[in-house]
Amino acid sequence: AGPCDIYYAGGTPCIAAHSTTRALYNAFTGSLYQVQRGSDSATTDIAPLSAGGVANAGAQDSFCAGTTCLITVIYDQSGRGNHLTQAPPGGFQGPEANGYDNLASATGAPVTLNGQKAYGVFISPGTGYRNNAASGTATGDAAEGMYAVLDGTHYNDGCCFDYGNAETSSTDTGNGHMEAIYFGDNSIWGTGSGSGPWIMADLENGLFSGLSAGNNAGDPSISYQFVTAVVKGQPNHWAIRGANAASGSLSTYYNGTRPSVSGYNPMSKEGAIILGIGGDNSVSAQGTFYEGVMTSGYPSDATEDSVQANIVAAGYSTAPLTSGPVLATGSSISLRATTSGYTTRYLAHTGSTINTQVVTLSSTTALKQQASWTLHPGLGNSACFSFESADVPGSYIRHSNFALQLDADDGSKQFREDATFCPQAGLNGQGSSVRSWNYPTCWFRHFNNVGYAARNGGVHAFDAAASFNDDASWVVGAGFA
Ligand code: AHR
Ligand code: AHR
Repeated sequence: AGPCDIYYAGGTPCIAAHSTTRALYNAFTGSLYQVQRGSDSATTDIAPLSAGGVANAGAQDSFCAGTTCLITVIYDQSGRGNHLTQAPPGGFQGPEANGYDNLASATGAPVTLNGQKAYGVFISPGTGYRNNAASGTATGDAAEGMYAVLDGTHYNDGCCFDYGNAETSSTDTGNGHMEAIYFGDNSIWGTGSGSGPWIMADLENGLFSGLSAGNNAGDPSISYQFVTAVVKGQPNHWAIRGANAASGSLSTYYNGTRPSVSGYNPMSKEGAIILGIGGDNSVSAQGTFYEGVMTSGYPSDATEDSVQANIVAAGYSTAPLTSGPVLATGSSISLRATTSGYTTRYLAHTGSTINTQVVTLSSTTALKQQASWTLHPGLGNSACFSFESADVPGSYIRHSNFALQLDADDGSKQFREDATFCPQAGLNGQGSSVRSWNYPTCWFRHFNNVGYAARNGGVHAFDAAASFNDDASWVVGAGFA
C-alpha cells in the first residue's frame, strides 16, 4: 500500500497527493510531475517506473540531457486535479516576469529510494508552487491532516517554507486563514528547543510551535537528513508530529487546543495549496520537498504511524550532487571558457569582480594567480565544492544578486551556501558546468566577460538563452599558480 491507501483505510482520504519521487497510491501509474527543458521549451511528464513505484528519473535524464530543466507541474495523484504550478504574485511578488515565482530546478535534489534514483523539489528563495482553486481541501474550521517528507539539512530563517492549506487570494487575509506545515529556523513568531530548524504550523500571521506563539520547548530542533513533518487540525484541536523519514517512528511535538489569540479558533481555512512559500507569497525561504499529502478529516495517530512506516520502507537516501569530470579537493585548478572566440579566457578575478581574462604561460604571476583556484569541500555542503582564490587566501567565489564575486568567508550560513557549487558534466559536452548549490537553476556563466550565476532564459540580461550552454561550460585544468 502507499501512504494514500493507508489514509483511505483510516477513513481520512488524501484529497491532494504530491511527489516527484514516487507514487503515493499502490495502483498509481499516472504522471508524477512535468519538466520543461531550456533548449526548446518542450515539456514531458515523468511517471513511476511501475504501479506504485519510484519516479522514472532516467526518462528525465534523457529528456534533459545537454540542457537545463525546470519542474513546471507537480501533479496531484488523488484524482482531484489539485496540481501545483508556478505560484502567482500575491502580497509579495516573485522574481520572474509579472511577479510570478521561480520554478525549481529538476536536478537540484537527487536522492535514491531503495537504490533507485529520483529527484526532489529544491526550493531556493524566490521559488514557489501553488493552486488557488483546489477542490476537496478543508475550508473554514473543517478537519484536515497533512504530512511532508523534507530535507532536514536545507532550510533558512526566511518566510516561509510551507506545504499545506493557504489563502486562495495569495494575500494575508488574517489569522487562521492558513494551516500548513512549516520547516526552518525562522524565529520571528515561534521557536522550539535549541536553535532549529523546527517543524511548526503556519496558521497565518504566526508560525506556531505549540499552544501559543513564542517558545515551546516540546518542539525539538531537527537534525535528520530526511524528515517527516506532520500537522493536523480540527475544531479547537491541532497537533505537530515529526520523525526521521529514514528510520523509526513519529513523535508528537504538540497535541492540544488552538491558540487563544483571536482568529485561530475557529479557523477560517481557505483551501488553496502552497509549496515553498507563505500564504501571502512571501518568497524568502528555502527547503526541499520530496512528497506530501493533504487529507479530508483528522487522521488518527495510528494512521500516521503506518504512513511513517511506509515512508521508512521507501528507503530515502542521499545521492551524489556532482557529475562529469572528477575534481579533487586540495588541488589548484583553472577554468577555461569553451565558447567559440573566448577559448583563451579563464575564470579570474579583478578585486572582488569575477570575470574572464586571457591567460597564457607568459602572463604575469599576478594574473596567473588571479586565474587559479583551490578546491575545497563545499562550505555549505561538503558533497559539492568551494573555490578559494590563490592570491587572496580565505576568499572564495560566491554569488550575490546572481553576480559572481570574490569575498572573504565571513562564517555566515548565507556566505557558505552562496559559495558552494556543484560541478556537472558540461552542458555543451565539454568539461564541467558549475551549478550553484543553493540556487541549482543558476550556473557559472561568462557574459560580456563578467562572471554570473546565470539562469538559462531568466529575467536578467546575463541569463540570455543564446549561447547559454557554451558560456556555462568550462574545461577544468591545472591551476597556473
Ligand atoms: O504566518 C506566517 C506568514 O505571515 C504567512 O505565511 C504569511 O502569509 C504572512 O506574512
Ligand atoms: O545571488 C543571489 C542572492 O543574492 C544570494 O544568495 C544572496 O547572498 C544575495 O542576496
